[in-house]
Amino acid sequence: MGNKLIAGNWKMNFTVAESVDFIGRVKSLIKNVHKTGMCICAPFTSLHALSGALRGTGIALGAQNIAWADKGAFTGEINAAQLKEAGVEYTVIGHSERRHMFGETDETVRLRTAAALKNGFAPIVCVGETDAERTAGKTESVLKRQTVAALTGLSAADAEKTVFAYEPVWAIGTGKNATPADADGTVKFIRGTVAALYGAATAEKIKILYGGSMNAANCADLLAMPHIDGGLIGGASLKAEDFNTIIQAAERL
Ligand code: 13P
Repeated sequence: MGNKLIAGNWKMNFTVAESVDFIGRVKSLIKNVHKTGMCICAPFTSLHALSGALRGTGIALGAQNIAWADKGAFTGEINAAQLKEAGVEYTVIGHSERRHMFGETDETVRLRTAAALKNGFAPIVCVGETDAERTAGKTESVLKRQTVAALTGLSAADAEKTVFAYEPVWAIGTGKNATPADADGTVKFIRGTVAALYGAATAEKIKILYGGSMNAANCADLLAMPHIDGGLIGGASLKAEDFNTIIQAAERL
C-alpha cells in the first residue's frame, strides 16, 4: 500500500501560543523521516501561525472542516479560499463528533468532500460505526452507506485523492482501540466498497487510516497491518513525544 500517513487531529485543543510551542517541541524530536506522510489538523484559529511554524518540518497543515459553498451567508463556516490562504492541504470531513453533536449528515459530508477536492485539498473523510450499530451487526452496512455517500458524484481521479479514516465511534477517546486484525478487516471492507464503485486499481490507491485510541503503545501493531495506511490520532497527537513515537513506528515499516 506504500508509505503511511500519520495525521494528528487536535480537535478543540491548543491556543495559538500552545500550537506554535508544540511544533517547536515536535520539531526537535522528529528526525530521519523520509517516507512517512505527516499532517496536523488544527483548530481554525491556529492555522495561519502554524503554516509558518511548520515550514521545513515536513509536516503538512490540515483543517478540521471545510464549507461546501464558496462564500456567503454561512455563519460559523470556513471556506476553501480561507483555508488555502492559511496554507492548508488536508481537511478532516465528517468526524463522528461533527456527525453526532453538530448535525453533520452523509449529505453534508458528500458536499464538503466535493468542495475539498474541487479546490485541491485532500479530504480525510471519517467513517465509523457506533457501539450500538456494532452490537446490532450493522458495522458493514453503516460503513458502506457512509463511504458510498462521500464518493457519490466523484470521478475516479477525484476519488483516488480521497483519504478515508475508519474511526469506530466506540474507540474514540475511550482507550479501547479496535484490535489490529479487526481494524484491518474493516479497512479491507471499506476498500472493497471503493473497488465496487471504481475498480480495484483506484481502491488500491486510496489511503485508508485507522483512528480511535491509537497511541504510542499500540501504534506499531496497528500500522503494521497490510490494509491500514496510517493513523488519525486524537489524544496522542497532543503529546509531542507520543506523536513522534507514532511517526517513527510508521517510518520503521
Ligand atoms: P483518540 O485518538 O483521542 O481516540 O481520537 C481519535 C480521533 O477521533 C481522531 O480523529
